[in-house]
Amino acid sequence: MRHASLLAIALAVGSPAFAQEGDNLKAGDVAFGGDLYASYCAACHGAEGRGDGPMAPVLMVAPADLTQLSASNGGVFPVVRVVQQIDGRDPMLAHGGEMPLFGDFFAGDDTAIRSEAGQPIMTSRPIADVMAWLETIQE
Ligand code: HEC
Repeated sequence: MRHASLLAIALAVGSPAFAQEGDNLKAGDVAFGGDLYASYCAACHGAEGRGDGPMAPVLMVAPADLTQLSASNGGVFPVVRVVQQIDGRDPMLAHGGEMPLFGDFFAGDDTAIRSEAGQPIMTSRPIADVMAWLETIQE
C-alpha cells in the first residue's frame, strides 16, 4: 500500500513537471501541419502520405510512404531523422535526392521539439507542425 501511494505521489508530482518541460519543447500544431503538408508535400507523397501523390509517377525515385516511418523504425517515430530529411541536414537527401530541401523555406521561428530519445532538437515552427501531423498518420 505504501509503495502504491508513493507511486501515486511520484506520478502526481511527475506529470506537471513533464508538462512544464513540454512547454519548453513546444509541440507542433497538428492542424496547421496538415495544411502545410497538403500544400508542400502531398503532390509527391500523396494526400495521406502513402507515397502516391500525382507527381509520384514522374519521379525517378519513388516518394517514401510516410505512414510507415515508425513501423520501419521499430515502432518509434524517428523524429531526428525525419526533421533532418525535411530541412536537408540529412546528407542522404542533400546529396542529390529528388526531394526538395525545405530548410530555407521553412526556416525561422526556432522551435525545439522532443526527439525520440527525449532530447530537444531545434527546428523551425512550420517543420515542428508538419512533424506533429506526420506523427498522427503513423500506422
Ligand atoms: C518533389 C516531390 C517531393 C516533395 C514535394 C516532397 N517529397 Fe519527401 N520525398 C520525396 C522522394 C522522392 C523521397 C525519397 C527520397 C530518397 O529515397 O532518396 C522523399 C523522402 C521523404 C522522407 C524520408 C522518408 C524515409 O523513409 O526516410 C521524408 C520524411 C519526407 N520525404 C517528407 C516530406 C515532407 C514532410 C514534405 C513536405 C514538406 C516532402 N517530403 C515533400 C519526394 C518529395
